[in-house]
Amino acid sequence: MEKLVITGKTPLKGEVVISGAKNAAVAILPATLLINGICTIENLPNISDVKLYCEILEKLGAKIKWNSPNEITIDTRNITSHIAPLETTRKFRASYYLIGALLGRCRKAQVGIPGGCNLGNRPIDQHIKGFEALGANVEVLQGNIKAKAKRLIGTSIYMDVVSVGATMNIMLAAVLAEGTTIIDNPAKEPHVVDLANFLNTMGADIRGAGTDIIKINGVKELKGNATYSIVPDQIEAGTFMLAAIASKGDITIKNCITKHLESIIAKIEELGGNVDANGDHLRVWYSKRLTKANIKTLPYPGFPTDLQPQMGVVLSQASGTSIINESIWESRFQYTDELRKMGAHVTAQGKTAVFEGVETLTGAPVNATDLRAGAALIIAGISAKGTTEIYNLNHIDRGYEEIEQKFRDLGAKIQRVSE
Ligand code: EPU
Repeated sequence: MEKLVITGKTPLKGEVVISGAKNAAVAILPATLLINGICTIENLPNISDVKLYCEILEKLGAKIKWNSPNEITIDTRNITSHIAPLETTRKFRASYYLIGALLGRCRKAQVGIPGGCNLGNRPIDQHIKGFEALGANVEVLQGNIKAKAKRLIGTSIYMDVVSVGATMNIMLAAVLAEGTTIIDNPAKEPHVVDLANFLNTMGADIRGAGTDIIKINGVKELKGNATYSIVPDQIEAGTFMLAAIASKGDITIKNCITKHLESIIAKIEELGGNVDANGDHLRVWYSKRLTKANIKTLPYPGFPTDLQPQMGVVLSQASGTSIINESIWESRFQYTDELRKMGAHVTAQGKTAVFEGVETLTGAPVNATDLRAGAALIIAGISAKGTTEIYNLNHIDRGYEEIEQKFRDLGAKIQRVSE
């Protein structure tokens, strides 16, 4: 078993380069199944979810060549199966994109019910509603989702809830459908736009991603023969921004899209932190005690739920009483139990957490209860007095590339230790 050991009270200083976006990569990799050709993907984050996806694609018949740890060339001309390996798909949430992609390619798909972080109830009714509207028959049987269609025919689909996964899954199923599909009330996250850009680069005809209506004109084939570079990770950039102010540091974040970070920049400034944004990089620094702020998580362009725990660590040390309202995931306050072990004054009930800011946190042994909780606890450990030990690192490794090396390069005293 591995743990991270952090000696705290280190203001972070220096530069960090952001990797490709996890939540774009885990949709773009299955999207390659729609291509009858070869493509190259650059700026792939070197994380365990990407490796799992590549294993699945190989089992389905794709040929993958690793050009570097962050670049693959993938040949999907000979896909031999529509049945995704059950054991692997159950390990992570984003395996649900295989349903849309295999349905699009083979007109049938069999995928194990997806696993992933325990954030509460995670229904996929909107995905299924979309597939059925396109003409598929979908059954959930013995731990598997089975979808099949004689033909997929474009139609209008109104999303009852704004869902990143359902928007992208319907997009995958509709790209090779007959006629035009309209997705009304879609998610607008940067990774939704990135998936559309990838598919268009490979020959699809998708318009409006990032707006209130997405229009997909079905095409006969995606030929590929192109190279695509994945968008920088908005959440990784936000994680380092919040680490900078929590640790009382001064860092420059490179290879990010500052437009994607507007809600985070606004909150950091409201707290009394400083941000200087310049297109593809930004400087974030601390100059005075941070003050309380209230946060409500919302779909993009609102404040992202995937930065809520990291922001909770900041608020636990800001002066005054702050309130976080989590509107996306019902169980995303599990990290507050761990923060209390570090001396935070926080209570969480239902969708609301109340933070009474303390001067400083104190190191303690804690558990990464999910991916973003793990990142938050690293930030807590770096800003706390004394030593913090973080367990359950598999969650963190799913979504952050070389996280401890990046923090070490900024001056953090952080080591991965095998027990
Ligand atoms: N929802 C439904 N029905 C559905 C789908 C979603 O009711 O069919 C609800 C959910 O219960 C939730 C809300 O809609 O309350 C939003 O869920 P969404 O579908 O947008 O989430 P997701 O696609 O399962 C992705 C990210 C999450 C991120 C959310 C919200 C991936 C692989 N996962 O999940 O990322 O929190 O969008 O932005 O893209 C993470 O990276 O740590 C992570 C959990």
